[in-house]
Amino acid sequence: MTTSTVYLKGFLLFITTLVFEGSQKSLSHAETASVLLRSRLQPAAAEISPEEIAVHSGRREYFEVTKPIKLPSHTKPCSSLLLNHSFANTINLPPFVTTYTPSKKCGFEWEKVILTWKATCKGWQYDRISAVWLSGVEIFRTCTAEPTAKGVEWKVEKDVTRFAVLFKDMQTLAVSLGNVVDKNYTGIYNVTVTVDFYPQYKQKGDPKASNHADAVLPISLASPLNGGYWFQLQGETDVRSVSVTLPANVYRATLEICVSFHGDDEFWYTNPTNDYIEANNLTDQIPGNGPFREVVVLIDDLVAAAVWPFPVLYTGGINPFFWKPVAAIGAFDLPSYDFDITPFLGVIADGRAHNISMRVTDSLKFWLLDANLHLWLDPNSSKVTGRLLEYNAPDPDTKTVNSYRGLDGKISIKASRSIYYSGYVFSSYGNITTSSLHSYKFQNLQVYSSNASVSFLEQITETKSKATTKIDSQIIDLEEKESSYPLSLFYVQDNQPNDTIVANASIAHALNEHVKISRKGSSSLHNSQAADGLIVISNNLVTNIGWGALRQNYSFQSEGDCYYRSLSARNYSLLSDIVLTSCTFPDVPN
Ligand SMILES: *[C@@H]1O[C@H](CO)[C@@H](O)[C@H](O)[C@H]1NC(C)=O
Ligand SMILES: *[C@@H]1O[C@H](CO)[C@@H](O)[C@H](O)[C@H]1NC(C)=O
Ligand SMILES: *[C@@H]1O[C@H](CO)[C@@H](O)[C@H](O)[C@H]1NC(C)=O
Ligand SMILES: *[C@@H]1O[C@H](CO)[C@@H](O)[C@H](O)[C@H]1NC(C)=O
Ligand SMILES: *[C@@H]1O[C@H](CO)[C@@H](O)[C@H](O)[C@H]1NC(C)=O
Ligand SMILES: *[C@@H]1O[C@H](CO)[C@@H](O)[C@H](O)[C@H]1NC(C)=O
Ligand SMILES: *[C@@H]1O[C@H](CO)[C@@H](O)[C@H](O)[C@H]1NC(C)=O
Ligand SMILES: *[C@@H]1O[C@H](CO)[C@@H](O)[C@H](O)[C@H]1NC(C)=O
Ligand SMILES: *[C@@H]1O[C@H](CO)[C@@H](O)[C@H](O)[C@H]1NC(C)=O
Ligand SMILES: *[C@@H]1O[C@H](CO)[C@@H](O)[C@H](O)[C@H]1NC(C)=O
Ligand SMILES: *[C@@H]1O[C@H](CO)[C@@H](O)[C@H](O)[C@H]1NC(C)=O
Ligand SMILES: *[C@@H]1O[C@H](CO)[C@@H](O)[C@H](O)[C@H]1NC(C)=O
Repeated sequence: MTTSTVYLKGFLLFITTLVFEGSQKSLSHAETASVLLRSRLQPAAAEISPEEIAVHSGRREYFEVTKPIKLPSHTKPCSSLLLNHSFANTINLPPFVTTYTPSKKCGFEWEKVILTWKATCKGWQYDRISAVWLSGVEIFRTCTAEPTAKGVEWKVEKDVTRFAVLFKDMQTLAVSLGNVVDKNYTGIYNVTVTVDFYPQYKQKGDPKASNHADAVLPISLASPLNGGYWFQLQGETDVRSVSVTLPANVYRATLEICVSFHGDDEFWYTNPTNDYIEANNLTDQIPGNGPFREVVVLIDDLVAAAVWPFPVLYTGGINPFFWKPVAAIGAFDLPSYDFDITPFLGVIADGRAHNISMRVTDSLKFWLLDANLHLWLDPNSSKVTGRLLEYNAPDPDTKTVNSYRGLDGKISIKASRSIYYSGYVFSSYGNITTSSLHSYKFQNLQVYSSNASVSFLEQITETKSKATTKIDSQIIDLEEKESSYPLSLFYVQDNQPNDTIVANASIAHALNEHVKISRKGSSSLHNSQAADGLIVISNNLVTNIGWGALRQNYSFQSEGDCYYRSLSARNYSLLSDIVLTSCTFPDVPN
C-alpha cells in the first residue's frame, strides 16, 4: 500500500492502530506517531514528553465495563494459579502450554468457577488477540490493552462454571498470545490466570437443572504448531472440519461458537462491495467483499448454527484514544454464541463419527474460529435414541443497492434468514422434544462524500431465537432471546501537507440483549458506548496529540439483580462514573 491511498479513502483503509509516545514537540519529526500501515512503522524515540509523564504517572488501570459476577455469599473460594507467563516475541509460535492439575483441597463440585485474567504491559505495542484453552476447549478469548510508556494493567473476570467438568481432571492448559517484540515494538505482555472454585452443595436432578455439562468436546485444532487451537480461516472458500464421535447417551447438547476477525476483515462492516472497488481501480488496495459476514456451522451437511457476529472493536480500533482506559464492548471478553443442537442428536449421537464444519461467508483473511460442544449425558442409559423431525434452513436473502460515481455515493445491504429445527431424544428422562427457531436481520448503509474523505456508516444486526423443550409433550422449558447490535460510525479525513492526516471520528454502538427463560425469569442488558475524537496521522503513524472522549451506559436488569453504570472518560482519565445496584434505575434509553 502506498501513502497516497491512505490520503484518499477515509475509513476504507482502516487498520488497527496504536499511539506512538515519542516526543511531540514537532510534528514534522519522523518519530512522531504510531501506525496506520504496519509496513511503514517508524522507530520509537526514547524521549517522553513532559505531558505524557504527567498523564502517565504510575501504571494505568484499564477495564471493560461489565456487571460484576454474582458470587456465592455463603462459601469462600479456593484459588488456584494456573499460569504466570510473559508473552514476548511469540508470533507464529505454538501456544504456551502447561499442565492443569486439580487440587484436592478445592474439591470437585462447584457452584461457581471464576477465571481471572490479569495482565500488565509497558512500552509500545499493538492490541493482540489471545485465548485460553483447557484440553483444546476454548474457555476465554480476549484482546490485550495497548500499553503506554509507563505501563498499563488490567483484569478480566469470567464465569467459567459451564466448563466445570474440565477442571475435575488433569488437562493441558494452553494460552496463545501472538506478540512481536523487537526494537520498534517493546511491549511484553505479563499474564497471570487464576481460577477461583466456590464449593457446591448437592443439587437435584432434572434434565435442565445442571449449571454445567457432563462433558465438553473441543471443535478446534488438535495440536497447533503455530498460533492457537483456533482455526485461522483465510477466506470465504476456507472450510474447516472436525470429525467427532459423541457418547451414545447424550440427551442434550449446546454448540458454543467462538469467533474474532482480523487482518482484512478486522473492520468487515466498513468493507465496500467489489464492484465499487473495481470501478475505482482500488483492487488489491482496500479490502472488499461488502460489509456482510456470516459464520456458518454445519453438522454433516445440515446448518446447525449461523452467527451474525457482534462487531467487537479492539483496543487500537478506529481511534486508540477512545479505549483508554475503558475498552470497547466485548474487547476484553469476546462474546461467544450458543446454539441448542439437541434436535440433531438423533443424527449425530449414533456412536459413529460425524463431520462438524465451519466457514465464514464472504470473508477475507482472516477469522479465528473454534467451537465447544457441551454435552449432557444420561446417567441411567448407555444409549439414547432420537430423530431430527423437522429442518428448514434456506440460504440468507441478501439485497445490495449501490449508487455511486467515482468514490462518492452509497452502498446499502440488507440481509435476513431463518433457521428452524426440531427433534426428539428418548432417554431416562422421557421423550425430550426440542425445537429451535433462529431469525436474523441485518442492514448496513455506507455513504461516502468529498471524494470519500467523509464516510458514514450505519448498521444494525438483530437476532431472535426461541427454543422449546418438552418432555412427553409437556413443555418444561421455553427460552427466548433477542439481541440487537446497532453501530454507527462517522469519519472525516483531512489531508494536510507533509504526509499528515487529521481524522475526526465518532462512533456509537451497543450490545442489547433480552432473555426470557420460563423456568428462570427474564433479564435485559443494554450496553452502549459513544465516542468521538481526533487522531493526527503523520508519516502513517498515529501521534499522541490526538484525543478521544467516551461515554458509556451499561444497564442490566433481572428480577432482584440489577446493575447500572454510566461513565465518561477523556484523554486516559475517567471524568464521571456512577454505579447503581438497586432495581429502580433512572430510565435508560436503549
Ligand atoms: C514539512 O516537512 C519539512 C521537513 O520535515 C519541513 O521542513 C517543513 O517545514 C514541513 N512543512 C510543513 C507545512 O509543515
Ligand atoms: C523499525 O522501524 C523502522 C522504520 O520504519 C524500520 O526501518 C525497521 O525495519 C523496523 N525494525 C524492526 C525490527 O521492525
Ligand atoms: C509471576 O512471576 C513473577 C516472576 O517471574 C513474580 O514476580 C510474580 O510474583 C508472579 N506472580 C504471581 C501471581 O505469582
Ligand atoms: C514483566 O515481567 C518481567 C519478568 O518478571 C519483568 O521484568 C517486567 O518488569 C514485567 N513487566 C511489567 C509491565 O510488569
Ligand atoms: C481505472 O483504470 C483504467 C485502466 O487503467 C482507466 O481506463 C480508468 O479510467 C480508471 N478508472 C478510474 C476511476 O480511475
Ligand atoms: C465435512 O464437511 C465439509 C463441508 O461440507 C466438507 O468440505 C468436508 O469435506 C467434510 N469432511 C469430511 C471428512 O467428510
Ligand atoms: C437414575 O437411576 C437412579 C437410581 O435408580 C434414580 O434415582 C434416578 O432418578 C434415575 N435418573 C433418571 C434420569 O432416570
Ligand atoms: C417422541 O415425541 C415425538 C414428538 O415430539 C414423536 O414424534 C416420537 O415418536 C416420540 N418418540 C418416542 C420413542 O416416543
Ligand atoms: C478523487 O480521488 C481520485 C483518485 O482516487 C483522484 O484522481 C481525483 O482527482 C480526486 N478528485 C478530487 C475532486 O479531489
Ligand atoms: C468532527 O466532525 C463533526 C461533524 O462534522 C463536527 O461536529 C466536530 O466539531 C468535529 N470535531 C472536531 C474535533 O473537529
Ligand atoms: C446514556 O444515557 C443518557 C441518559 O439517558 C443519555 O443521554 C446518553 O445519550 C446515553 N449515552 C450512551 C452512550 O448511550
Ligand atoms: C486531550 O489531550 C490532548 C493532548 O494530549 C490535548 O491536545 C487535548 O486538548 C485534550 N483534549 C481534551 C478534550 O481534554
